[in-house]
Amino acid sequence: MSEQVIGGKSFTAVAINCAAKAGEWIKTKLGNHTSLSLKYSAQDLVTEVDKGAEAMIRNLVMTHFPHHSFLGEEGVQPGPEASDRALQSVRDAEYLWIVDPLDGTTNFVHSFPFFSVSIALAHRGEVIVGVVYDPIRDELFVAEKGKGAYVRGRRMNVSQEEALRDSLIATGFPADQTFALPLNMKGLQALVPQVRNVRSGGSAALHLAYVAAGRLSGFWEIGLNAWDIAAGSLLIEESGGRVTDVKGSPYDLGVRHVAASNGRIHDEFLNALQQAESNS
Ligand code: IPD
Ligand code: CA
Ligand code: CA
Repeated sequence: MSEQVIGGKSFTAVAINCAAKAGEWIKTKLGNHTSLSLKYSAQDLVTEVDKGAEAMIRNLVMTHFPHHSFLGEEGVQPGPEASDRALQSVRDAEYLWIVDPLDGTTNFVHSFPFFSVSIALAHRGEVIVGVVYDPIRDELFVAEKGKGAYVRGRRMNVSQEEALRDSLIATGFPADQTFALPLNMKGLQALVPQVRNVRSGGSAALHLAYVAAGRLSGFWEIGLNAWDIAAGSLLIEESGGRVTDVKGSPYDLGVRHVAASNGRIHDEFLNALQQAESNS
């Protein structure tokens, strides 16, 4: 891994500071956001709080690291093609911050207390810092490449389940109703009878953090973006788990159809998705 501190400022400390500040501010806005608009579809929401949180994070990052690149959800046009283009234009940057300022906007809008701030730093395409913050529970999940992953200061480990039948799996219901949602529903239909149960809390980043913490055995979703997955992917890898696309290719920043698990169930998990033809 390359040097983590420049001029005394630790990348991880800045990531944590950004996530904590944005998360605390988001919490003060719960139940009193003032603007709600639609983006890519009727299910794809954005508020002034998403935009304000991203501006706050971007300003902080740029103050500390003015030469770094920044990819934030709210700075990108809605929809999968625009997201792909935005990623391609920066993915090989020396240092790239990848930010979802509010993952779980639908929950935030409905005061359903399950959402997060997700911040990753990639060095030449490889995630080296990942932070996911849940402001409601005041839980900060943090990982540094090669140094492990922690929540509330305790080292995280993925869960022990060896088989799908003993597993608690999570997924999401993608806002893209033409491509991603139908595929995801095929996977859901196939997996429910094969696993202990399925959860869908509405924040992909937080679900990934829960896989890292051993609270979920696995998570998959079709049609996510780099900012939903990047931080969580490092949390899981540093907790002993496995992250691939739904066909089994290793994780990289371009993965949109993600399967993440404790590693032990991974092959069976991928097989089940493949059998259901839900891996596109
Ligand atoms: C969404 C959440 C949700 C997932 C969607 C994402 P957003 O992110 O992670 O759980 O199912 O696919 O778009 O829009 O709340 O940042
Ligand atoms: Ca998101
Ligand atoms: Ca978001």
